[in-house]
Amino acid sequence: MIILGIETSCDETSAAVVKDGKEILSSIILSQDVLHRQFGGVVPEIACRAHLEAIIDVVNNALIDAKVQLAEIDAIAVVNTPGLIGALLIGVTTAKTLCMALDVPLIAIDHLHAHIYANNLESETIQYPAISLVVSGGHTTLFLSESETKHIPLGGTIDDAAGEAFDKVSKILGLGYPGGPVIDRLARQGNQCAISFPRSYLEKDSLDFSFSGLKTAVLYHYRGQDSKTSKSKTPSEHEIANIAASFQEAVVDVLIGKTLLASKMYNVRGILLGGGVAANSRLRQRLKDKSNETGIPVYYPSPILCTDNAAMVAGLAYKKYLEGDVAKLDLEAVP
Ligand code: KG4
Ligand code: ZN
Repeated sequence: MIILGIETSCDETSAAVVKDGKEILSSIILSQDVLHRQFGGVVPEIACRAHLEAIIDVVNNALIDAKVQLAEIDAIAVVNTPGLIGALLIGVTTAKTLCMALDVPLIAIDHLHAHIYANNLESETIQYPAISLVVSGGHTTLFLSESETKHIPLGGTIDDAAGEAFDKVSKILGLGYPGGPVIDRLARQGNQCAISFPRSYLEKDSLDFSFSGLKTAVLYHYRGQDSKTSKSKTPSEHEIANIAASFQEAVVDVLIGKTLLASKMYNVRGILLGGGVAANSRLRQRLKDKSNETGIPVYYPSPILCTDNAAMVAGLAYKKYLEGDVAKLDLEAVP
């Protein structure tokens, strides 16, 4: 079964053709980073207009790369939630229009569930139940995953998402947008023990997250309000690398602490990581080390499948289709 997937929930216009939920025949990802960089974050109105301008070409290119004709597409999958409303609407409208014209089923996909499914595109061995951690620019959510399609939310961020914290700290440090990849790179040259930033675990056994205090602590440290650096002195490159490494370590400590707590609470057979922040090399390394210690297998997608892409959307759609979970043409975009 050949499924065309469409993803426009945030700032990537993406289309992919996937066979039988597994074989990626094509995957086009058009990033809008360059449009949002000057603002230090995604501007919804700009994202929406850019999707509108790009979507037809992106879909066409996905078909060309996959060497399939529109007539060979068996179903169309689209992310309809969560995301920026104007951005989601471009994908949803495109998908509905194609479904109507081709008379093929429409499959509605939750963006976060698709991030989790990215693991299934590359691994055959995942066993359930599993704990899934989705860490992206908009979300930090722990799920109890009962199967590839059934995910029960256990906790999430009460303020900033992990990726948002990376992006905001990067802005404070003058490192540009998106912040995650640059902080990840810079942190390798810094000392993660240089500064003791706060780790917020909230109340005992809480599976919720909070990163806004950490972000503020970085801001105060950078501005010299904790007396380590004076206000008049701009931190050196080495000091910035130390801040990046220490900040990243604080985020990773909390993410890993809560994920392991959840995995013990629910006695799971695996841990799945997904979303843009799942590309973080420190998070991946430390979770792998924990997996060796605990014996619970940890999965994370290749970096290209961590950030937003439509291959994960078309892949998950195949499983939903097999379960008879098909949407109607009055499907709404839900931000
Ligand atoms: O999943 P994604 O592509 O879009 C959303 O659904 O939000 O995630 C984007 C986020 C951005 O905040 C970006 O800074 C972060 O993922 N990110 C990273 C890394 N690569 C991307 N964060 C930490 N380390 C990375 N290597
Ligand atoms: Zn995402």
